[in-house]
Amino acid sequence: MLMMFQQLVQVCQVMVIISFSSSVTSLASLLPPGEVAALRQIGKTLNEDGQVSFNLGDRCESAGNVTITRYPQITEMNGTIGCNCSIADDKFCHITSFEVKGYDLSGRLPPDLVNLTYVERISLTANRLSGNIPGYLAKFTGLNYLILSSNNLVGTLPEALAQIKNLTDFRVSDNNLNGTVPEFIGRWTQLRKLGLCATGLQGPIPRAIFLLEKLKDLRITDTPGPEFRLLNVPKKMDHLVLRNINLNETIPEEAWSVETTLDLTFNKLVGELPLDKIRRQFTFLSGNMLTGTVPESFILSNQYL
Ligand SMILES: *[C@@H]1O[C@H](CO)[C@@H](O)[C@H](O)[C@H]1NC(C)=O
Ligand SMILES: *[C@@H]1O[C@H](CO)[C@@H](O)[C@H](O)[C@H]1NC(C)=O
Ligand SMILES: *[C@@H]1O[C@H](CO)[C@@H](O)[C@H](O)[C@H]1NC(C)=O
Ligand SMILES: *[C@@H]1O[C@H](CO)[C@@H](O)[C@H](O)[C@H]1NC(C)=O
Ligand SMILES: *[C@@H]1O[C@H](CO)[C@@H](O)[C@H](O)[C@H]1NC(C)=O
Ligand SMILES: *[C@@H]1O[C@H](CO)[C@@H](O)[C@H](O)[C@H]1NC(C)=O
Ligand SMILES: *[C@@H]1O[C@H](CO)[C@@H](O)[C@H](O)[C@H]1NC(C)=O
Repeated sequence: MLMMFQQLVQVCQVMVIISFSSSVTSLASLLPPGEVAALRQIGKTLNEDGQVSFNLGDRCESAGNVTITRYPQITEMNGTIGCNCSIADDKFCHITSFEVKGYDLSGRLPPDLVNLTYVERISLTANRLSGNIPGYLAKFTGLNYLILSSNNLVGTLPEALAQIKNLTDFRVSDNNLNGTVPEFIGRWTQLRKLGLCATGLQGPIPRAIFLLEKLKDLRITDTPGPEFRLLNVPKKMDHLVLRNINLNETIPEEAWSVETTLDLTFNKLVGELPLDKIRRQFTFLSGNMLTGTVPESFILSNQYL
């Protein structure tokens, strides 16, 4: 780790020298000018009404991740603008992650994001962004992390997003989207984490989603649609939260192998509870028509039934 860091520092020092020698008039930037201009414009679009102090410019001064935090006391809201100086075979560093969380930004998703060609991670969670989720996000074919939860986004999930095949983490919970849960999510075979809680989207929920083998964390809640039977879920998940999505009939066997959180509340599930399988930390099953006696240990180890 230390060696990597030293290497990085060395690479960057070399780069500073090169760019100094080629431009004596202005301060050296590690980023290509196009990315600096894009960052400025992105900052303006996100903070359309200028209500918070938020200026983006050359965010690569330290050739690493720059933490940007509006509320430092809320540590999970730390955002980073990540910069990598060895990702491309050119003399520049490039922005590789753009995570601005919990900043009270009330603008829109900025088109100039696409000028940050090397971005692999985007999170704009917990702002007050409005407008649509734009199809141009599909231009980031290398994107693996796209989190837009807890905003005021409207409209459908555009079909163009189907092209971002390498997504491992996609979350759009808590928005006011419209339309149905798209089929293409079931073709994102690299997904490990999917969050579709109270998106505004409607069912039916494509079955292919429940067949994504790499999923470890799946949360879909408050999605009205036709009743359906959950036939299978990936094995050995960490968290499976399927609340109020109109599941009927019985719980599939694999669901009992979920490690940490199993929440299937407010559906139309029936059947007997296999009490020997309720071992994980959190099991929530209320609001169904399940039968079986619940042992005291289960009540003690679970805050809510
Ligand atoms: C981003 O790229 C587009 C087209 O490639 C260009 O029109 C636009 O001016 C760029 N944005 C900035 C802020 O340079
Ligand atoms: C920068 O942030 C990314 C996640 O955004 C993380 O994977 C990476 O390890 C960080 N790099 C450094 C040098 O802290
Ligand atoms: C968030 O940022 C604050 C202030 O920069 C830092 O003290 C804290 O460790 C960070 N938290 C995480 C989870 O990175
Ligand atoms: C920068 O990108 C290179 C090439 O993709 C990668 O090997 C390296 O780990 C990245 N460095 C950081 C600090 O993320
Ligand atoms: C997607 O991931 C695969 C396997 O890791 C890789 O070979 C491919 O280049 C990636 N595609 C893009 C567009 O980054
Ligand atoms: C949702 O989509 C339907 C059908 O496309 C449309 O009629 C309706 O106005 C939309 N609702 C909102 C709130 O955008
Ligand atoms: C569960 O939903 C499916 C699909 O709508 C339906 O065909 C089936 O009859 C339902 N099962 C019960 C027991 O109502």
